[in-house]
Amino acid sequence: MCGIVGYIGSKQASDVIIDGLEKLEYRGYDSAGVAVVNGDDKISWAKKQGRLSGLEAILAKKPVEGTVGIGHTRWATHGAPSDLNSHPHLNAAETIAVVHNGIIENYMELREMLIAEGYVFKSETDTEVAVHLIDKFYEGDLLTAVYRAVEQFRGAYALGVVSANHPGELVAVRKESPLIVGVGEGEYFIASDVPAILKYTRNVYYLENDEVVYVKDGKLTILDGEQKVIDKELKVVEWDIEAASKGGFDHFMMKEIYDQPQAIHDTLMRRLDEDGMIHLDDIKLTKEDLDGITKMYIVACGTAYHAGLVGKYAIEKLAKVPVEVDIASEFRYSDPFIDEHTMLIVVSQSGETADTLAAMKLAKAKGARVLAITNVVGSSVAREAHDVFYTWAGPEIAVASTKAYTAQMIAFYMIALDFAYKKGTITLEAYHETIKKIEALAPLVQEILADKDEIEKIAMDMKDAQNAFYLGRGVDYTTAREAALKLKEISYIYTEAFAAGELKHGPIALIDQGTPVLCIVTQEALEEKMISNIKEVKARGAFVIAITRKGNTEVAKVADDVIYIPGADDLLMPVLSVIPTQLISYYVSIARGNDVDKPRNLAKSVTVE
Ligand code: F6R
Repeated sequence: MCGIVGYIGSKQASDVIIDGLEKLEYRGYDSAGVAVVNGDDKISWAKKQGRLSGLEAILAKKPVEGTVGIGHTRWATHGAPSDLNSHPHLNAAETIAVVHNGIIENYMELREMLIAEGYVFKSETDTEVAVHLIDKFYEGDLLTAVYRAVEQFRGAYALGVVSANHPGELVAVRKESPLIVGVGEGEYFIASDVPAILKYTRNVYYLENDEVVYVKDGKLTILDGEQKVIDKELKVVEWDIEAASKGGFDHFMMKEIYDQPQAIHDTLMRRLDEDGMIHLDDIKLTKEDLDGITKMYIVACGTAYHAGLVGKYAIEKLAKVPVEVDIASEFRYSDPFIDEHTMLIVVSQSGETADTLAAMKLAKAKGARVLAITNVVGSSVAREAHDVFYTWAGPEIAVASTKAYTAQMIAFYMIALDFAYKKGTITLEAYHETIKKIEALAPLVQEILADKDEIEKIAMDMKDAQNAFYLGRGVDYTTAREAALKLKEISYIYTEAFAAGELKHGPIALIDQGTPVLCIVTQEALEEKMISNIKEVKARGAFVIAITRKGNTEVAKVADDVIYIPGADDLLMPVLSVIPTQLISYYVSIARGNDVDKPRNLAKSVTVE
């Protein structure tokens, strides 16, 4: 998983590329590089292990000049992060340079074949086979050489290619890995994602699998796998460049936590008509289709999976269809029972998660109707699905997902309500009432955010912990799981969530003097049981932080610290109860000196299985 950028026009290519790579660092940030063509017989290049700033320092001392170039920001898959494994990769003569996002699965056999032919490899990457193959097939025509090379690949790739022998040309090709083309005034861009080029243009082409971009002498052509010219629709990106920047906060994560009221509002309100009815434009399911669905699966990874757990509660309660929730990487290999009466809902912020994509392809092949909930318009997941729900949370840059999660829960409430209404399992009155309650969530989230200083103080009780446990029951257990994931991924505190009732069957052995235990107590019917669980852990020395509804007087009698949040319907409480847990994770991580936006070992979009 990496980010690629390319430029051809009249500006200094390295300036445009560095700008773009900065916006793509969320895709990987263990090394960066740039290659520029400037009329010399060799390509000028620079690459460096580490953050982009390392590359910038090199370029400041020794600029690479020229108006055609490619760049890369890497998250290691084959070969550890190192200068040599960084992209771009070049042929021996340094006349061809390649950047790549994805994995060439058959690279070992290609590598052996090329070594036998005398090619010398400098890196351990799969990508290096690409540049040597292009070199091997090069007979004076760069485009044809790229076509012939990619014919040999098995796997996923978005490639950007330049050559010193073709100073007016830029070639790019995609299969499974995302790639867009930006169109400016007499200039063109390629990139793995839109924020990389927004500073320069809003006009983009979203490439499909096997499509090839070829810019020559100022003219862009998009070709298919057979080298036939394709007529594609140019799309205008509506994202504001501001939305892709930190907006005054110290970190993207905090900005995105604060974006949540807006994300909830946008996700809901854009689908309500004047009569307060939900209109899901990209979901074409009729009442007849829904009546034919006897089983649903929700499949996703990480935080999106947790949103799916909330989705199960919503769909089963409102639309009365049995729902199973599974982790995408497990679902694929579980031989799931799928027929034409099965619906698969996948959830993916990025829309590019390889495990999720593979799961949906499997379900589609077995005849399931596939609905995708995603935040990225035109993403692979969106294109692969029969029906799509876009979450409208805006770009999420921090690796730890926050606003996408709340927006995904809103998506599930709306889908569940829409299905319930179509199936006749909800009255019109209850339907409208629930929509009003969802609408009310955005200001309630705002209210919780206003207590951030108080929450920060409470978070400081956890900052030196070696481990922490999160407990909940029912839908609060789902929040506990999401909250625990968030704390562990950015604070590096070992954090685990348990169903509170399960504690006494084993995990309680882990509780020791001073162990922080965060308890979520928002489900009225389960409150008494949760209070008993709090007493159990207190008796073993735990330090208990509880999150409960305003007005609850019982929890304060047993917990050490209490965070009060506004009340809502039980089913909607996960949208509110997760907010203080996001803030706790943020403050604890900052106090521990961590890079909250880019936690170690993680990348924003996991495009490898
Ligand atoms: C955690 C987090 C990850 C993602 C997961 C799926 O904060 O962000 O667990 O939720 O990698 O990513 P998407 O939603 O892009 O498929």
